[in-house]
Amino acid sequence: MKTVTVCVGSSCHLKGSYQVVQSYQKLIQTEHLEDKLTLKASFCQGKCKGGIAVTFEGEYLPDVSITNCEQVFRERILPNLD
Ligand code: FES
Repeated sequence: MKTVTVCVGSSCHLKGSYQVVQSYQKLIQTEHLEDKLTLKASFCQGKCKGGIAVTFEGEYLPDVSITNCEQVFRERILPNLD
């Protein structure tokens, strides 16, 4: 089981992290990843200056936004789940 963590601290919240959480929840369902990927929310990860702070298996994924979060999921997370 792998883990993706989305920051819901105040700075990331203002950038739309809640929408990223919802988008990733939906993707986990539609791609049937419930057995492979856990979605977690975190408090501030100390990366407030970039995009919304998302980490996959502890690796920080830079420049995530509401508009590119699905693309990031498909390119950076989905291929690395097996
Ligand atoms: S609030 Fe998300 S990294 Fe600081």
